[in-house]
Amino acid sequence: MAAQARSPIGVFDSGIGGLTVVRTLMERLPFEDIIYFGDTARVPYGVKSRDTIRAFTRQITEFLLARDVKLLIVACNTMAAVAIDEVRALSTVPVLDVIDAGARAAVEITRKGVGVIGTPTTINSNAYARSIHALNPAVHVYSQACPLFVPLVEEGWLDNEVARLTAREYLKPVLEEQIDTLVLGCTHYPLLKPLLQEVVGPGIQLVDSAITVAEQTAAALDRLGLHNPQRVAPHYQYYVTDVPLRFQTIGSRFLGRELTHLEQVRW
Ligand code: DGL
Repeated sequence: MAAQARSPIGVFDSGIGGLTVVRTLMERLPFEDIIYFGDTARVPYGVKSRDTIRAFTRQITEFLLARDVKLLIVACNTMAAVAIDEVRALSTVPVLDVIDAGARAAVEITRKGVGVIGTPTTINSNAYARSIHALNPAVHVYSQACPLFVPLVEEGWLDNEVARLTAREYLKPVLEEQIDTLVLGCTHYPLLKPLLQEVVGPGIQLVDSAITVAEQTAAALDRLGLHNPQRVAPHYQYYVTDVPLRFQTIGSRFLGRELTHLEQVRW
């Protein structure tokens, strides 16, 4: 048991975006080792087919399980939307995912209705609406795909006129609905939080799945007695599938700190 508690947490994403989850995990659980996998050679997933995403997801799950992680976190909304059953079927350790975490947080907050924004694949899968309705069938859910947000964030355009106009355009139909809660259903969107809050106004609460999944992780480690007993500086290891330079540069923006221990996986 002690050896398992000392094992790292495995986190994976289609690329760089899942570092928003890693960042909140580092803050919430400062003594846990983390192994991150970002499929930078094959990103973006959000516009790919379900079968392709499921095959990629299987491969990454097996990679992390082979590194003896004690818990798996699916940080990518698109993978969680169409392949969570694959991950759960393969996994020998507990699995947490951003969609379940986001849906739970939204249902707790809302009194009126929930807006969900994400990649086309996530929105077309209807996974958020299904998760929300499984918790409370009476909640009104309105979903909107925002495909241009991912490239905007990768470009670092978090608060300029292009980003503002794009957000206004995407959110116009969402704001016509009766909602008081907006789920940021994509790894990249937490970086747009200040801009999105400005566009939707103070009456709508943003749900950042990165924060809620970190809370769920802490609760799961409590429940399972799996907190790392060693109170020393943790080890963070990053695996990517493309040459690591871009990941390192943009990743430090997502992470808010320098990124080291980076290795390229050649499949
Ligand atoms: N990680 C993806 C998500 O959360 C966004 C990037 C992609 O399209 O692969 O949906």
